[in-house]
Amino acid sequence: MRLPYPRKCAAPATGCDHAAWPSTGHGDAEPWGGLPANTGVDVSKEMLAVARAKVGDAANPRFVLGDMRTFELGDSFDLALIPAHSFQFMTNADDQVAALRPSPEHLVSGGRLVVHVNHDSLADLAQKDGTERMDDPITELATGRRYRPSYAWTYDHAYQNATVHMAWYELSDEEAVVQRWDLDPMVLHVITAVEMEHTLHRAGFESTTVIGAFDGSPFSTDSPDMIWSARSAPYATETR
Ligand SMILES: C[S@@+](CC[C@H](N)C(=O)[O-])C[C@H]1O[C@@H](n2cnc3c(N)ncnc32)[C@H](O)[C@@H]1O
Repeated sequence: MRLPYPRKCAAPATGCDHAAWPSTGHGDAEPWGGLPANTGVDVSKEMLAVARAKVGDAANPRFVLGDMRTFELGDSFDLALIPAHSFQFMTNADDQVAALRPSPEHLVSGGRLVVHVNHDSLADLAQKDGTERMDDPITELATGRRYRPSYAWTYDHAYQNATVHMAWYELSDEEAVVQRWDLDPMVLHVITAVEMEHTLHRAGFESTTVIGAFDGSPFSTDSPDMIWSARSAPYATETR
């Protein structure tokens, strides 16, 4: 999957010579070339390994294992990105603010943060009743084995958290199920626009703007995404 946003989201930070990229993995390697010094942070060793495999042994980008709520890079970046709904793994207010906090340990005073989250439809969320839905089978290239994933979503309207139970079915040549693996459930918080704006300000950001898709279109009812951009408020004490 090609991720178009690194270049676009870098645009507001024109002139930056660093960019923290607090996520990795699914994108192809090409966008990394657009920014001179990239650092990718992810809490998953496996996701970091996928990202590393895509860029080889190059020192740039570097990859750091860390939790977005607590990581300290020891370097100040002009631009930080939280792409591909990674921020939605923050399922309560404290975790949201901890993940966004601007700190001299990773963002310069006045530095730019871009957060990409989904804009989920309430009508779709209302349908998430835990029914297991099968997806198309995939073939593992190395072994030729075939697997079919399934997803069962539920949605908690009280705290706006969607939970997915995912399973993989290994298939025989006759399409019979040979084996089933159940993954740990994943919980994603469904964010509303006003909530996001409040959270950015509470965490210490200002000048917030939002667009509704990567083509730059305005955020509206039918937008597939919310792509937020904000600047950290000047730090009380400049340390760098
Ligand atoms: C949908 S994937 C994003 C895809 C991929 N990272 C990319 O940018 O192409 C969400 C990522 O968020 C990471 N993640 C979840 N919770 C996290 C946390 N607390 N700190 C850092 N990364 C986290 C997951 O490990 C996963 O790699």
